[in-house]
Amino acid sequence: MTNKILILPGDGIGQEVMVEVEKIINWFNSNNNFNAEIEYGLVGGASYDADGVAISDTTMDLAKKSDAVLFGAVGGPKWDDVAYEHRPEAGLLRLRKDLDLFANLRPAICFSSLSDSSSLKKEIVQDLDILIVRELTGGVYFGEPRGIENLENGNRRGINTQVYETWEIQRIAEVAFELARKRNNKVTSSEKRNVMESGLLWYEEVKKLHEEKFQDVELDHMLADNCGMQLVRWPKQFDVIVTDNLFGDMLSDVAAMLTGSLGMLPSASLGKSVDGLFKSALYEPVHGSAPDISGQGIANPLASILSFSMALKYSFGRNEDSKLLEDSISKVLDDGSRTKDIADQENSISTNEMGDKVIENLELLSKE
Ligand code: IPM
Ligand code: MG
Repeated sequence: MTNKILILPGDGIGQEVMVEVEKIINWFNSNNNFNAEIEYGLVGGASYDADGVAISDTTMDLAKKSDAVLFGAVGGPKWDDVAYEHRPEAGLLRLRKDLDLFANLRPAICFSSLSDSSSLKKEIVQDLDILIVRELTGGVYFGEPRGIENLENGNRRGINTQVYETWEIQRIAEVAFELARKRNNKVTSSEKRNVMESGLLWYEEVKKLHEEKFQDVELDHMLADNCGMQLVRWPKQFDVIVTDNLFGDMLSDVAAMLTGSLGMLPSASLGKSVDGLFKSALYEPVHGSAPDISGQGIANPLASILSFSMALKYSFGRNEDSKLLEDSISKVLDDGSRTKDIADQENSISTNEMGDKVIENLELLSKE
């Protein structure tokens, strides 16, 4: 059985970090019978330049047929003036929507050797291990009506709609409770029920589901602004945070920075599972295309490599390989290798060297 992987490097540093991911996949192919077949496609600005759209129908078909999509990053100033519906981000949003990837898992884990790299004090972030579960196919990102209207009085009106239905809230809360059971058994649900009806519905539905099916899991409700504050005040109070699309976007960036660098954070976007495996799935680093550093070979490929490690676990059921890869990354960091974003002194290594270090350690650890 071959494992079908579609790599969509996208723009900016996406193209640089995915080269390293491919090296890692090839290592698992040659050494651990991973049997992956890799295809490539264009997305974002790169796709716009080639085909005039942020993702083509052909690439969407490839994505639907693959077991996992590995995504780099999209966007950059070059495409600032492109028509809104063709902006690079539209490619990612179409993938999420058309593959129905409603559950976005964003772990924020602070590697012990990196606890000095955070902008917060060491004792606040040391051993941090939290998981943000972000709803990804609903809410204000996709709600109708939307658009910019011209008003008769000469003003313009910009409209987006925050909308959630019970089933959408239930299915994402279900994912959060299930995951919490395998971790520290605590869920914090975050919304703005004090100002938004959609937030009140979110609160009520999560509470109801908890009473019906998940009473063994501890549940807290926290307003989203407070949640942002608590994340920088005392992040270790959290285990799993479940929240909507927009708050999840913001809170996951905050959580990411606690760990030292956005360059370290992976994510998985999952659809429905079949026999415990997710075959509709997209894995991407939380960081963006970083136009300011792209082309210099200094980007940190670890977030993308860790995203592939999530793919090993969630889409391919290869928990041991996933663990081996994570251990190799830990060891690389323990040995002091750092790309520029996590290095505190002058000494940093390149994107390519970081990929090679991970492979060296895969070799070493797999022989132990
Ligand atoms: C993310 C990104 C995306 C989002 C952008 C690129 C559309 O910020 O995945 O967090 O807003 O969801
Ligand atoms: Mg974001």
